[in-house]
Amino acid sequence: MVQLDVIQKNANTEVGSYFVANYPPFSAWGPGHKQAVLDGLDQSAGPDPSPLGLYIHIPFCRKRCHFCYFRVYTDRNSSEIEQYLDALTREIELYSRKPYLQNRDFQFVYFGGGTPSYLSGDQLRGLVDRVNKHWRWEQAREVTFECEPGTLKKSKLEAIKEIGVTRLSLGIEHFDDDVLEINGRAHRSPEVLRAYEWAREVGFDQINVDLIAGMAGDTDAKWEDTVARTLALKPDNLTVYQMEVPQNSTLAREARESDGEVPIADWGTKRKWVQQAFDAFCKVGYEVSSAYTVVKRDNNNGFYYRDSLWRGADMIGTGVASFSYANGIHFQNEGGWADYLDAISNEQLPIARALPATDQQRMIRELVLQHKLGKVDAGYFRDKFQVEIATTYADVYDAMQKSNFARIDGDHIQLTPQGLLRVDALLPYFFEPEYRSQLPDGN
Ligand SMILES: C[S@@+](CC[C@H](N)C(=O)[O-])C[C@H]1O[C@@H](n2cnc3c(N)ncnc32)[C@H](O)[C@@H]1O
Ligand code: SF4
Repeated sequence: MVQLDVIQKNANTEVGSYFVANYPPFSAWGPGHKQAVLDGLDQSAGPDPSPLGLYIHIPFCRKRCHFCYFRVYTDRNSSEIEQYLDALTREIELYSRKPYLQNRDFQFVYFGGGTPSYLSGDQLRGLVDRVNKHWRWEQAREVTFECEPGTLKKSKLEAIKEIGVTRLSLGIEHFDDDVLEINGRAHRSPEVLRAYEWAREVGFDQINVDLIAGMAGDTDAKWEDTVARTLALKPDNLTVYQMEVPQNSTLAREARESDGEVPIADWGTKRKWVQQAFDAFCKVGYEVSSAYTVVKRDNNNGFYYRDSLWRGADMIGTGVASFSYANGIHFQNEGGWADYLDAISNEQLPIARALPATDQQRMIRELVLQHKLGKVDAGYFRDKFQVEIATTYADVYDAMQKSNFARIDGDHIQLTPQGLLRVDALLPYFFEPEYRSQLPDGN
């Protein structure tokens, strides 16, 4: 019997990560499946392939934030950056020749990091000019670009617009300068306001801002002020993450060295802060679009990248340590700078580990990711996978209903606000038994 009482508890934040980004978990992927990726890419995609996306990883940052777990470099000089951009171009060229991808257009493109806006306008234009010799993306429905506010100038934002970006994503995180400082952010609040104004002047279709609930040093009053100042910007959408302390972050290392606790608010407080932000935005015309996001109601505010991935789209992830999914196979690039560059200079795809997903795993992957939207349509899973999720997962859904985390009405499975705020802790209950070691110990 599934017991969810543990998720009701108001646990302290500890080192570790609850965030479910994919399925099966990365720990199951291995180097032994590399050939399966190459074989998969040598097949044709058939007459009606799923949408295709491109992820471009720019792993440079001005400073490493204390909470960050991404693969980033803060010490690369301009010739190393040029070498990396060149490798990215060659990687994309290698993919463009693969039968599975030939003659397919990208429906979405995502520049993520690290900090894509660390690049200069000229570096960006140079990268895109070179990439476009092999693959163009004018027809993409959405091109997203992540920025750290302190790296932006108006001329750089113009270059970002020029390369086709439709959604700018600004990592504001918090408005209190002491909180930003304590957490090792490189920017301060005046830079946010300046960057936001320029971004509006340049005129992107959508501006998203990221906040984190539970940064070290945060308080009720500081959070309230951050929410009010974010509201005043009137972003098209707002993403609020609950602070995690991943194993490979500076915060986790410091906690290990001092044998101390991590200085982060408990899960109950973080959930309260996310809910406060969502409530404040929903009062003025936004609506909840996922566990982490509210969007302006009146504007055509899709999240094409997110929604496509969560419905099984193919995505080619380029750059060091990037993740891909193509022809039902998960794979990840080499995580070391030299390993990545060496593979490309040998004209090899820089794949380090992979996992061909079974039909059941593909279904579970979509199911867990779609739960993050707050609602799941059982009919979708019946049509696509011939699985009755309400009966297959009857024990999990019963427990979720008893705990007031979900309501079920026919094919419509709806997470309650309480369920949505804890969704990442609930998702491992849908995993196959061998991957359930990730079940939460209370948050
Ligand atoms: C790659 S960063 C965005 C671009 C840029 N590097 C920046 O930080 O401004 C993606 C987002 O992940 C979130 N993030 C990073 N580390 C996190 C953590 N430990 N817990 C919760 N959210 C985190 C932050 O909101 C950040 O904006
Ligand atoms: S949170 Fe963003 S800016 Fe900070 S180290 Fe991570 S990727 Fe870089």
